[in-house]
Amino acid sequence: MSIQCFRFRHWFVFGAVLSGCSTSSEDELGFIVEDSSALERPTPVTNFGDPLPGLSPALVARFEAGRELFSTIQQPSDGLGFAFNGVPACFICHDVPVIGGSSGIPAEHIGFLADDGSFDPLISKGGPTLQFTGMGTSGANCPDPSLIPIPLEVRPPEANVDIQRRAPPLFGLGLVEAVPDSTFEALARQQRAECDEVAGKVNHVEDAVSGRRRPGRFGLKSQIVTLTEFVSSALINELGITTPLFPHENCPQGDCTWADCDGVPDPDISAARVAKFVDFVRLMAPPPPKPLTRAARRGRMLFERIGCASCHVPTLVTGSSSIPQLDHVAFHPYSDFLVHDFGSTEGFSELTTQGEATARYVRTAPLWGAGSISSLLHDDRGGTVAGSVFWHAGEAAVARDRFEALSSNDKDAISEFVTSL
Ligand code: HEC
Ligand code: HEC
Repeated sequence: MSIQCFRFRHWFVFGAVLSGCSTSSEDELGFIVEDSSALERPTPVTNFGDPLPGLSPALVARFEAGRELFSTIQQPSDGLGFAFNGVPACFICHDVPVIGGSSGIPAEHIGFLADDGSFDPLISKGGPTLQFTGMGTSGANCPDPSLIPIPLEVRPPEANVDIQRRAPPLFGLGLVEAVPDSTFEALARQQRAECDEVAGKVNHVEDAVSGRRRPGRFGLKSQIVTLTEFVSSALINELGITTPLFPHENCPQGDCTWADCDGVPDPDISAARVAKFVDFVRLMAPPPPKPLTRAARRGRMLFERIGCASCHVPTLVTGSSSIPQLDHVAFHPYSDFLVHDFGSTEGFSELTTQGEATARYVRTAPLWGAGSISSLLHDDRGGTVAGSVFWHAGEAAVARDRFEALSSNDKDAISEFVTSL
């Protein structure tokens, strides 16, 4: 039976998922909540960038040590470079409104999209991410002076895809990591079976940590499964720091002649040092929601009614974790972490491929903390909430059209709701 996603009357919990586009029978549900306001729990008071509330002193100490490292300018002796992304520390791209947040600083992803839809990330030409900065062309640590100057990377002429991805906030990501794989599979199945226009896909990718194919959940295309892998990939791609997971330097235009020029043997840092960066991200609390005003409450009702919640799923539940604050807890990311065909508005579409997320497929942006981001959508073009909805197309076109048909008062109410999450 096909059900219009926007006409649901209830929020359902089945297994570990709360989804907005189902009117499934009560039998398969763990329990039914009359509407999402019944889910409101007293929220522990945290500020942006705090650790999860209630962590043991030992875990708080790990969080603090991780934050210290995340906030430290990395030096060549820490393995920085030899090619990196222009800034020598994580926090420089993740500091709005506090350390651990977002920024407008982008990373550039390139590739070649062929007419038959196949995508070449141009690895031999320096892709899929570009590093335009080196450790100075002086190559201060280069053991072979004849290799100096070190060339900087340039955009290869073959690239016909060139995407800027701005740095998203990192609040609450330990909770996202702890969601069971089966939840994402169930959400995708449910959307396929019960929604008319919305049919998100799980992006199955190889988890570099376990070697198994698993549902990705991090990154613009849900291309990465665990925080250990994402942090290791940020270390190599943004800072040029090699790790046990990614032990090879990024080479300008794919030419590795200069690989030893950072003067530190690979891997530059140990798994224990990577784990410190990961601790900070994993143990950070979700963004603190603002109290809902009257208008925001009305906005929430409209958001649910016009189908925004089909993809921006309000509540997920974690599986088991050795950290009590991540163990079987409900949280409110306002995303299904699936990838959706986002269509193309005025020619705007994201055309890279990562895993099974091919051209136009992007992850539903989590809306928690949206009020802390200075300009919305992955390349900043959305600006405001209403500005972002304008660019929704593909599977999101129906919800967009319903939004555009609302009065400006109602649109404002939705914006107020979204920026309070
Ligand atoms: C030059 C800017 C820049 C620097 C430096 C940087 N990041 Fe990021 N970060 C980004 C961008 C851009 C993305 C989005 C990438 C994508 O969507 O594929 C991102 C995404 C992430 C994510 C995934 C967020 C999500 O919602 O899926 C994590 C985790 C992360 N960064 C951690 C780090 C850590 C740890 C460091 C330091 C080792 C770091 N970043 C340094 C720009 C940066
Ligand atoms: C079919 C799934 C889908 C539906 C339905 C949908 N969205 Fe989205 N939304 C997305 C995806 C995917 C993105 C990320 C797009 C990007 O960055 O390229 C997004 C991004 C956003 C953003 C920007 C967030 C950020 O951090 O940059 C806002 C705001 C937003 N959506 C609001 C809404 C509202 C309001 C509605 C209802 C009118 C809605 N969305 C309906 C999939 C959906």
